[in-house]
Parts: sequence; structure tokens; C-alpha cells
Amino acid sequence: MKALILFSSRDGQARDIASYIAREIQAQQACDVIDILEAGSVDWAQYDRVLIGASIRYGNFHPAVAKFVKTHLVALQQRASAFFCVNLTARKPEKRSPQTNAYTRKFLQQSPWQPDCCAVFAGALRYPRYRWFDRIMIQLIMRMTGGETDSSKEVEYTDWQQVARFAQEFAQLPVKSA
Ligand SMILES: Cc1cc2nc3c(=O)[nH]c(=O)nc-3n(C[C@H](O)[C@H](O)[C@H](O)COP(=O)(O)O)c2cc1C
Repeated sequence: MKALILFSSRDGQARDIASYIAREIQAQQACDVIDILEAGSVDWAQYDRVLIGASIRYGNFHPAVAKFVKTHLVALQQRASAFFCVNLTARKPEKRSPQTNAYTRKFLQQSPWQPDCCAVFAGALRYPRYRWFDRIMIQLIMRMTGGETDSSKEVEYTDWQQVARFAQEFAQLPVKSA
């Protein structure tokens, strides 16, 4: 059986984290890594564990995340499952747990799917790649929250050791019996 790793990513950081997790566990666990926007119908018979990772933009996940959960709820509940959230609020260590990260806490409160394990990862700030409007908005948010405001900079806050630990936690979740 394989693991299904789905990601929802606008600028690539959640996708890179999903691929990193797949590489970390490849010796123990075959994985398929798929963009949630392209997941379509899933052949669930191949998978005994599933991970969904999604980034935050202007306070929200992509609507495709909630839609996927709703459509595939039974399959998710029947499998060992995990979730990770990527955002810039989590660059502050005290905002990097499912309980202290507002986006993740809200997701878990509202979601009919309750993953067996969950993580919050700090994302990346890549000013030069943003459109004018987004650059101004992010700069404003960074000014208000004491972050990087130099719009020539690209900063990756992701703690890859934290990602590696989570990858092992995911790979070691006990398989659920049907
Ligand atoms: C337009 C835009 C809006 C964002 N809004 C938020 C936000 O509301 N809260 C937050 O913590 N991070 C926010 N971020 C930071 C992203 O979550 C972060 O850059 C993350 O690495 C993006 O992951 P992705 O490349 O997989 O989409 C925003 C980033 C951009 C570009």
C-alpha cells in the first residue's frame, strides 16, 4: 500500500514541503504526491495513509481543500491521516503549533475530518516574485507584525528538521483496519 500526499500551494512552498516529506519516508513508504487541484477522482484502494498540506493566503486555505475533505470524507476517516498548514505567522515559534496557530486551530475546529497528526510549518517570504498588490499587502502585514519589510528579499523560514520529524510521525501512524 502507498501513501497519498496532497498539497495546495500558490507559490510552491507547500508543494516543496510535500515533496520533501515523500523523499524523507521513501525508504519505508511508497508515496504519490499530487496537487489537490488535480486530484480529481482518487483510487483509494491503493492508499492506506493520506496527508494533506495547504498554505494560507489572506487568511484562508484554497477552497479546494475544504471541497476535497467534504468529497472524500469517508476515505479520509478510514485511513491513517495527517495535515499540515504553511503560513508566515508560523515564522514565530510560539505560533507554530496546531493549538497556537489561528488558521490551523480554526481548520481543525471546523473540519469534519480530524487528522491523526497535524503540524504547522513556517513558509517563505518571496517579495520579488509577488505581484505589485501582494507585495504591498505583505509588506504592510510584515510592518505590523515586526517581520521583514525589505521588498528585495526572499526569506525561507521553514524549519526542515521539523518537517523531517513530522514526516516520520506520519510514516509511523498505525494503519487503520477497514
Ligand atoms: C498574497 C499572499 C497572502 C498571504 N497571506 C498570508 C496570511 O494571511 N497569513 C499568513 O500567515 N501568511 C500569509 N502568506 C504567507 C504564505 O502563507 C507563505 O508565503 C507560504 O510559504 C506560501 O506557501 P505556498 O507557496 O505553498 O502557497 C501570504 C502570502 C502571499 C503571497
